[in-house]
Amino acid sequence: MSTCPHNSKPEDIVHEEGAQLDFSRDMSYGDYLNLDAILNAQKPLSPAHDELLFIVQHQTSELWMKLMLHELHAAIRLIAADELQPAFKMLARVSKIMEQLVHAWDVLATMTPPEYSAIRPYLAQSSGFQSHQYRCIEFAMGNKNAAMLKPHQHNAERLAVVRAAYEAPSLYDEALRLLARRGLAVPQSHTQRDWTQAYEASDEVEQAWLQVYRHPKDHWDLYQLGEELTDLEDAFRLWRFRHVTTVERVIGFKRGTGGTGGVSYLRKMLDVVLFPEIWRLRTEL
Ligand code: HEM
Repeated sequence: MSTCPHNSKPEDIVHEEGAQLDFSRDMSYGDYLNLDAILNAQKPLSPAHDELLFIVQHQTSELWMKLMLHELHAAIRLIAADELQPAFKMLARVSKIMEQLVHAWDVLATMTPPEYSAIRPYLAQSSGFQSHQYRCIEFAMGNKNAAMLKPHQHNAERLAVVRAAYEAPSLYDEALRLLARRGLAVPQSHTQRDWTQAYEASDEVEQAWLQVYRHPKDHWDLYQLGEELTDLEDAFRLWRFRHVTTVERVIGFKRGTGGTGGVSYLRKMLDVVLFPEIWRLRTEL
């Protein structure tokens, strides 16, 4: 046993430091965090050792998505209210969460094809494709697609949540409305559109962003907004890429539990561009 640099025994330290040890009357750590509910929410269906990894990886991703949505929705509201500084802080947090989820794939990548195959029959048709929080994030980021409402039609409460995200202006829509309020020439087709439609890139919008990027000192906060959006999409792209690579190493080119071609579907999603003019303008600078 290693010795402590001081004279007290470890159990004495706890007393000497005054740690509270009796929680018969007070709220404890586990009470505050509702840990009984969280730690009892893993219900493996198979006898396979590796199913717990699979469940924990998905559940923790969903918890981080919950926080992302909390931050994203607040950031969208703040941009609409011209309060950019607090919105920037929230967007930076969303990017960092996404980066963390990118690294989280390393843990799941320790699952080998035979380990996954032992679980696969128990998953039936359930797939991340049906994650309503992920769909809300995609919608809030502007990737609108009516077909993605369908997997939630059997659950009225969830459908209402996803539909609200589908019908609301996205982060990018609000960013463009802000540019217009600041006098930049964003066409009306892009400030007052049907928010449920997929975003279409426009040369005028690219010119508006180019004004910002060519004269950053005149538009410093919009310039910062442009870079926050770039960080966010950059992290999102990395997440999609690590997902498809992890899927390929675990299931190869087998079909997904959600019914798609699997890797073929996920590769198509790599082509989605959320904030097109923000990327295009770089060629012009
Ligand atoms: C070994 C683990 C995994 C495999 C084999 C896998 C496989 C797949 C496949 C094949 C799809 C396409 C839809 C389908 O046909 O099922 C998909 C979609 C999806 N998966 Fe995973 N996945 C894994 C882990 C994860 C994790 C940990 C998450 C985190 C929440 C996740 C979230 C998603 C999401 C959100 C989609 C929808 C993507 C979109 O529509 O763009 N997946 N997954």
